[in-house]
Amino acid sequence: MSESSGNQDVQTGKEVAATKNRLSVKEAEALGYYDFMSYLGVPYYHTGGLVSTRKLAELCLVDPTKKVLMVGCGTGFSACYLARKTGCEVVGIDIAELSIEKAKERARRQGISDRVEFRVGDAYALPFEAGTFDAVITEFVSQFLDRSRAFKEFARALKPGGYVGINEMYKEKGIPPKAAEEIAYAEKIFREITGLSFSLPTPEEWKNGLEEAGLKNVNVRKFRPSPGLGEVKALIEGMGWSWNFALYFAELILKTGKYSLFSRKIRHRFKKLGEGKKILLRKKSTSKYVGYILATGMKE
Ligand SMILES: C[S@@+](CC[C@H](N)C(=O)[O-])C[C@H]1O[C@@H](n2cnc3c(N)ncnc32)[C@H](O)[C@@H]1O
Repeated sequence: MSESSGNQDVQTGKEVAATKNRLSVKEAEALGYYDFMSYLGVPYYHTGGLVSTRKLAELCLVDPTKKVLMVGCGTGFSACYLARKTGCEVVGIDIAELSIEKAKERARRQGISDRVEFRVGDAYALPFEAGTFDAVITEFVSQFLDRSRAFKEFARALKPGGYVGINEMYKEKGIPPKAAEEIAYAEKIFREITGLSFSLPTPEEWKNGLEEAGLKNVNVRKFRPSPGLGEVKALIEGMGWSWNFALYFAELILKTGKYSLFSRKIRHRFKKLGEGKKILLRKKSTSKYVGYILATGMKE
């Protein structure tokens, strides 16, 4: 049985044991990148983490009366966090089926399935009628999408007066050639390992994309990745502190170690991921040109 108090999001030792090493190396290799990462138990990916999730929700005026769509919700960690923190209703969609299974299980475990729903769906063809949501949010998703198609679809799903809010990465305009070349190499790595299109827009391109979808009062705020204690606190809040929290991360590390050890393909993926992340997030000469934006636009 799961712990199911409103603030808990951890598996019991029994559940961890039940899911442990369930997939063979071959089965794990066959999964898409995000399904594999979901299987490992990575809670979320977006730069700025849960602190940014809350900031973005505030910018979109999310409160307990609002219905929010989170597109590309992954395993639903921040969708559940948002629902609990703000009291809003959340629908999360993602194309990765295993991620959605995990997300449903998460909402059940947290006892919030009555106001948090997850389903498989495509950002380009949202399975909802026009004017359904007060806010449509993406975190680390729109950067993989064709902005002109996706933002129009997000705007369609919004009620008049509703907001699109995005937390996505950007790169500066006019980067010196050597750094630009390395950043282009990192973008190629992300395209290859995810199988999705990935090329970082500039803040101006993000703004234009939202405006071209017909959104008004578009505002793009730039941030530099700087994980702090606030994020650790939010993560613990998101999971619920207990020894199972430590067990969760031990399991993540063990599973990652197992598949890396026995699969050359997975080892190669992690190596490439490390290279790409270093260029975009840590290497001084390149990461200073990269950051993330919290951008909003309103449907009139
Ligand atoms: C980097 S992950 C971000 C997940 C989550 N939002 C987070 O912040 O942790 C990108 C997610 O977008 C999903 N995705 C990619 N293309 C999509 C599409 N066309 N429609 C819906 N989801 C998509 C992927 O399956 C993946 O879960």
